[in-house]
Amino acid sequence: MDYLEIEGGSPLCGEVRIQGSKNAVLPILSAALQGTGITVIDNCPDISDVSAMLEILKGYGCSTRREGKRLIIDAGDLHSGRAPEDYAGVMRSSIMLLGSLLGRLGEAFLPYPGGCVIGKRPIDLHLQALREMGAELTEEPEGLRAVCAHPAGARIRLPFPSVGATENVVLLAVRAEGDTILQNAAREPEITELCRFLSCMGAKIEGAGTGTIRIRGVKELHGTEYRIQPDRIVAGTYMLLAAAAGGKVALRDAPLEQLAAVRKVLSQMGVRQESSGNHLLLWCPGRCRGGIQIRTSPYPGFPTDLQSQLMAALCLAEGDSVIDERIFEERFKSAEELVRMGARIHIQGSRAFIHGVGKLHGERLEARELRGGAALCIAAAAAEGKSRIHQYHYIARGYENIIRDLKALGVMVQCR
Ligand code: EPZ
Repeated sequence: MDYLEIEGGSPLCGEVRIQGSKNAVLPILSAALQGTGITVIDNCPDISDVSAMLEILKGYGCSTRREGKRLIIDAGDLHSGRAPEDYAGVMRSSIMLLGSLLGRLGEAFLPYPGGCVIGKRPIDLHLQALREMGAELTEEPEGLRAVCAHPAGARIRLPFPSVGATENVVLLAVRAEGDTILQNAAREPEITELCRFLSCMGAKIEGAGTGTIRIRGVKELHGTEYRIQPDRIVAGTYMLLAAAAGGKVALRDAPLEQLAAVRKVLSQMGVRQESSGNHLLLWCPGRCRGGIQIRTSPYPGFPTDLQSQLMAALCLAEGDSVIDERIFEERFKSAEELVRMGARIHIQGSRAFIHGVGKLHGERLEARELRGGAALCIAAAAAEGKSRIHQYHYIARGYENIIRDLKALGVMVQCR
């Protein structure tokens, strides 16, 4: 089985362009189902989660074509069907097809979205909210059957600002009869992008990016052309790589306005930053400072999707730090691997206590999930000696080409 081989210990030097956002394009692909014409999506990342979603769209009669970073989707002949089991069942994001399929077809059957190693990933908030709009949802043995011939606008308040539940409500509300007011909505930039995309299709949405989103249903949505924003988590990953491995790097097309919480932590760690527009220069003179205390939280707080990558960087920082993971219940999986490299991490409930050490040594490592795998790449690039990262296919779910990007930043990496 292939593995990544990384020879760590040399300071970084180089520049990388940030790819389009995985967590923006996935709900947008769901929204494209509702367009009666052709939709063109530009700057689409070439990642395995997008390929899987496109296979699912084809299962409902969409025709899709990729031309480099452009995706052309024709949802004109949509028919009810079943998502191909081998894709929809394993990819959590398939659940956000629910709102779109109900909006366009009035019915849907979806296998239950896979949980994953970071947590159980329940969908109760999605189901509760869609029922308030008139959806009848039956949990059958092989999957979820949904019917909603006449979705009605409703006033909905989410108990937690769930990103996916917010997306599903918006995706159904754009076609509902009347107005929907969604309170305690997620405020992530990916929600704003989805609402901007739907507005380009003719939807009527106000308040995207705030805690209250108002949607007025329309009879039809048309195809459109849209360019995906850069991926804030990929950008944050490479910023934390610089903090861990040292040296000087530049990020091009980084969505800096979406990374304020991350940039604040990097400054506290002593990482120097110079930005102009979407271009960022980072360098870390000497060893980073520890003494960091962070709690992951919904946007604009510190993102849970960068928690593992921060942990990898703090393993080598001077001093003790604490990370409190408040979003997912099992998101410290990479800690075990980091400890095998010489890190000193103690996990207690939702908190990881990290005592910075002077160096890490290369090891045989195993990626267990997407962001934890990226964290292992960070640790391997900063460690002395060679590391091998097995099961690195998880990283390809969200990073277009981690080998290309690491090499561009000066990391000695090969696929073996
Ligand atoms: C989205 O997942 C992202 N995925 C995740 O990114 C991200 O970590 C997460 O939002 C939080 O920002 C995509 O956008 C494809 P949630 P989602 O609903 O929508 C609980 C990555 O690495 N919850 O905001 O599933 C849930 O268990 C991925 O790119 C319920 O209890 O996140 C979790 O503890 C990982 N019931 C918390 O809420 C529900 O019905 C946050 O979940 C839904 C969620």
